[in-house]
Amino acid sequence: MSNKLIIANWKMNPASLDMAKEIITEINKESKHFGDVNLVVCPPFVYLNEVTGVIHNSKKIVLGAQDVFVGEGVSHTGEVGIKLLKKAGVEYVLVGHSERRELLDTDQIVKEKMIASMKGGLKVVLCVGEKERSEHGDHYHEVKRQIENAIIKLPKKLIKNLIIAYEPVWAIGKSEEEAIKPEQLHEITIFIKRLINDILGSKELKKVKILYGGSVTKNNAKEIIGKGNVDGLLIGRESLKVKNFVELIKQIK
Ligand code: 13P
Repeated sequence: MSNKLIIANWKMNPASLDMAKEIITEINKESKHFGDVNLVVCPPFVYLNEVTGVIHNSKKIVLGAQDVFVGEGVSHTGEVGIKLLKKAGVEYVLVGHSERRELLDTDQIVKEKMIASMKGGLKVVLCVGEKERSEHGDHYHEVKRQIENAIIKLPKKLIKNLIIAYEPVWAIGKSEEEAIKPEQLHEITIFIKRLINDILGSKELKKVKILYGGSVTKNNAKEIIGKGNVDGLLIGRESLKVKNFVELIKQIK
């Protein structure tokens, strides 16, 4: 449990295949300095093959997908299913990211994607997080609902494939000053751990890593991870700025 986990969510970036290759090649070269930090890179589907071509021998970097389709059969225009992802070298998948929940991923769909992916042998990064904070503490209810709807009755043998990323929507895509305060994160991390403990039990809780995402940069990462009581980070924009990103990882290793 002590190894830190960093997940790079490239979203719809970078703008070209050449840039994607350049970024992953640079990160890969630096990965010998990552100490006990493990890195998952989640590029857009169209760059998966090139990225895996660079990292296939790496002990530090593995491949993740930003979404997955879990319906039966193969007649699904425009979708990418578990088998295809695994053939492309994918080991992790993001499920329930707020940018997908905004489109059409309901709690029910999130759960279906999560269970099918785990059964198919992928590790799942279940993203949860409130849209906004209220002084009445409504955000706790929102996070509780998302987690309960995903993990209640989760078969025990699948729990080892579960990672939870807390990403408050209000903190995504902002300036580093607008990221969560470490004390706020500490509170909600305790809340999430208690919830997992209540639902899955204390033995299972130990298997679940909790990450934070939302406007993390090289300047706030160390404090967020240290004081926030989390096992790692889910990083958007800063993961594409190679120099900053490598410095960020070296700081927390
Ligand atoms: P930023 O780090 O760009 O705020 O994005 C966070 C995120 O949504 C990662 O999944």
